[in-house]
Amino acid sequence: MSFASIIDKVVEAPVVTSFTNVGYVVRSRLDGWTDLDSYDLSGRRIAITGPTSGLGLAATRQLAKLGATLVLVARNESKAQDLRDDLVAAHGNDAVSVVRCDMANFQDVRAAAKQIAGEQEQLDVLIHNAGSLLNERRTTPDGMELTTAVQVVGPFLMTGLLLENLAAGSRVLTMSSGGMYTAGLTISRLQMDEASYKGAEQYARVDRAQVTLNEMWAERTAGSGIRFHALHPGWADTPGVEESLPTFRKIVGPFLRSPAQGADTLVWLAADDGPPLQSNGRFWLDRRIRPVHKLGSTRRTDTRARRRELWDWVAEAAGWDLV
Ligand SMILES: NC(=O)c1ccc[n+]([C@@H]2O[C@H](COP(=O)([O-])OP(=O)(O)OC[C@H]3O[C@@H](n4cnc5c(N)ncnc54)[C@H](OP(=O)(O)O)[C@@H]3O)[C@@H](O)[C@H]2O)c1
Repeated sequence: MSFASIIDKVVEAPVVTSFTNVGYVVRSRLDGWTDLDSYDLSGRRIAITGPTSGLGLAATRQLAKLGATLVLVARNESKAQDLRDDLVAAHGNDAVSVVRCDMANFQDVRAAAKQIAGEQEQLDVLIHNAGSLLNERRTTPDGMELTTAVQVVGPFLMTGLLLENLAAGSRVLTMSSGGMYTAGLTISRLQMDEASYKGAEQYARVDRAQVTLNEMWAERTAGSGIRFHALHPGWADTPGVEESLPTFRKIVGPFLRSPAQGADTLVWLAADDGPPLQSNGRFWLDRRIRPVHKLGSTRRTDTRARRRELWDWVAEAAGWDLV
């Protein structure tokens, strides 16, 4: 084991150092990260959800700077148009378009996928980043718990509908969270009910489902050359954290990562043609593959049968019957 790997393990062990800016700074130096500014992404076609705030905004700014062709998939169209204007002014990159889509609305997701496919016959990177931790339980008009719709079912449907537009070397990236380490895989209790609802726990269950589906997409498309990666950003100071976790934000305060630090691995997975193309279905933090379980209690829930049940449930909920 290299010196960098040993130090990395020490930093990884306690969550507080691993997830904060301490983990980011130590690892970026130990592993001698390639500067993101050195990538040239001219001609790389990237669609990203949730580009209008926090991590998605930081990633979008960096990808635009590197010359990528961008599709901003956003629920707030005027916010996204303003962002587009900003990107053109800041980087002279006018290869940026806007597609309106609320990820909790599956009609929107279908229309958005169609629009993206119409604009980009081939997509090099599809980034599922939109999401939030909701302290109060909310549902879609059809009664689906909102986090589940936005972060599990909507992205699953969008991936499925855009599969034909992905090719060998294309990547599908899913922003999950380290919170998933605390949650087992559940389908029957994926959507918490009103009486038991706790935002952080709901979020962790959803994140676990996202990471599991990432692995399953990789298995089910093996041989296609498409790469699926899930990741977590550590803890970053974003408008989402400010709104959902104000006390946590106050406590961790100066140790929170900046949005750009939190988005680093996302941009790197989209930009680098080395490690991101050499593995599939894995879970990343700070440009390294991480385990998907740290607790025996969650590992025990992660059975083949339950995975199949998750896939079948999501496909049905999404109304996607091509698998
Ligand atoms: N920040 C962290 O420390 C952290 C840690 C772990 C995981 N994450 C994950 O990272 C991702 C980004 O989080 P963030 O902290 O950057 O939050 P944020 O600042 O609240 O940004 C969330 C983005 O998602 C969009 N969005 C939310 N619901 C949507 C919906 N129904 N349809 C379409 N777009 C929607 C928002 O659009 P609007 O601009 O219109 O609101 C915004 O662009 C999330 O998936 C979050 O779970 C963040």
